[in-house]
Formats: sequence, C-alpha cells, structure tokens
Amino acid sequence: MDISKIKLVYYSPTGTGKRTVEAIRKGMGIDYDVIDLTPAGSEMKNHAVAKDELAIIAAPVYSGRIPAVAAERVRTVKGDGSPAVLVAVYGNREFEDALIELKDITEELGFKTVAGSAFIGQHSFDSEETPIATNRPDGEDVKKAMDFGAKVMEKVKGLGEIPDLEVPGDRPYRKSGGGDPRSPETNPDSCILCGMCARVCPTGCVKVSDLVETDKEKCTACTACVQNCPTGARHWKHEGILGAAKWLATNFGARKEPEFFL
Ligand SMILES: Cc1cc2nc3c(=O)[nH]c(=O)nc-3n(C[C@H](O)[C@H](O)[C@H](O)COP(=O)(O)O)c2cc1C
Repeated sequence: MDISKIKLVYYSPTGTGKRTVEAIRKGMGIDYDVIDLTPAGSEMKNHAVAKDELAIIAAPVYSGRIPAVAAERVRTVKGDGSPAVLVAVYGNREFEDALIELKDITEELGFKTVAGSAFIGQHSFDSEETPIATNRPDGEDVKKAMDFGAKVMEKVKGLGEIPDLEVPGDRPYRKSGGGDPRSPETNPDSCILCGMCARVCPTGCVKVSDLVETDKEKCTACTACVQNCPTGARHWKHEGILGAAKWLATNFGARKEPEFFL
C-alpha cells in the first residue's frame, strides 16, 4: 500500500497528544498536513482523508473514555478506507476503554485501523504539589513514538488489504460523565486580563472583559487555561478536582510506558 501523505488529527487541550503525534509522524518521514480539532469552533468544519493518506488520530483519555467533545470533533473527519494509527494519551493512571472507543468511532467514519497505541502525557491535574507524569511525553517517549512511526510505515507498505486489529478495552464502555459542573477559578489580584485562558479554551467557555467569566456547564475540566495562565491566576479550587489530583499523585507515581498494538 502506497501512502502519499500523512494527516495528523488531534484534539489536545494541554498539548501532550499533539507532541506525541508529531513524534510518531517524524518517525514516518513523509509529507503531512495537520487537522487540529482543539480550538473552539473546530466542530463546525468538515475534513476528508483520502484512500492513500494515512491518518494519525489522537485523543486524550478522560475517565477511561474518549471525552465527548473529542468524539464529536473526530466525527468531522471522514475516511475513505484510509489507514489510521490510533493514539490514546493518558495521564499515567489507565486508558481503559478509550482506545477501543476511538477505534469504533474512526471505523464508523471510514478508517481502517492499522495500529493502535497508548501513550502517557503529563496529567492535566499535575501541579508542583501533586506531580503526575510531569513533563511527559519526555525524551524516551518521543524516541518510542518515532520508532513506532517507522514500524507502522513498514507494516503499511507491506499490506494489500488492512486486516482487522484488536485493541484492548471492553464494550459496552465504562460509564463516563456525571458529577457537578465545575471550572477553574481566577484570582482577580494576579489576573492581568490578558485573555490567554479564553484563547486556549477548546469549548469557548471562558469570556474575558474587565473580569473573567466561565460557563461551568461547558467546561470539560481540561485545565488548558490553568496550565497556560502566565501569572498563575487561573487555578482549581474545586474539592473534587483537588482531591483527585492528590489521589492520582499518591497512587499513580510509578512510571508507565507506552503500549503498542500492531
Ligand atoms: C477530566 C479529565 C479526566 C481524565 N481522566 C484520565 C483517566 O481516566 N486516566 C488517565 O490516566 N488520565 C486521565 N486524564 C489525564 C489526561 O488523559 C492526560 O493529561 C492527557 O495527557 C491529556 O492530553 P492532552 O495534553 O493532549 O490534552 C484526565 C484528564 C482530565 C482533564
């Protein structure tokens, strides 16, 4: 099977999935385009991946699943029997049913899974007090991602038809969602109203005027606003999130390694 181009497709609010797919792509070493599904409003556009293009499709893991916002946006990308490399990026706890869910979503869209992977990214709730997979993907992850990219390319070249590929996970998927609406807070004393939080929010739930307002109903807790705030004014105060961060830092400190399904 000859591949003319790679399409990098990702929803990556805090950038770990984006860095991972870039490394996989580097290992493949052919021309590419980017379909970034992260910015607010991405769900309004449609995209197509041709038969002879290979898509690398990445989404983060939220509660062992693909977040609903990511699933909705991935559904704007149609394949044409196009080969796909699936990438679930998780914060060193577990990826549970996320990869099989991503496979089901993308195969419905006309992709054929040639390879799957689960990579580790710094957990969205990582902080100095609660370090969880800090700075991942790191150099070792990037090297593994590049090697994986090279192996996938070898596999694709040798294929006529793409056989079905099994990836871990259960159907029906575990339950997702629930819990009360929550969002980060802004400390007015250190906020400089620069608008960064609004610009990086993938759902457009933050509005900045002479104060910062957040629509809790639309917040996915992705934490991009907290991680990108230049003054540290944006922070979590919600007990559930702070408790989860503590629990994760206490119980999931042991380094996990990327897994590959080829
Ligand atoms: C609401 C929420 C739920 C999450 N659930 C999980 C999980 O179930 N397992 C896990 O290991 N990491 C979990 N994470 C961490 C993310 O999967 C991880 O930080 C990932 O690297 C984020 O990808 P991105 O940087 O591409 O946005 C969760 C993060 C958030 C915000």
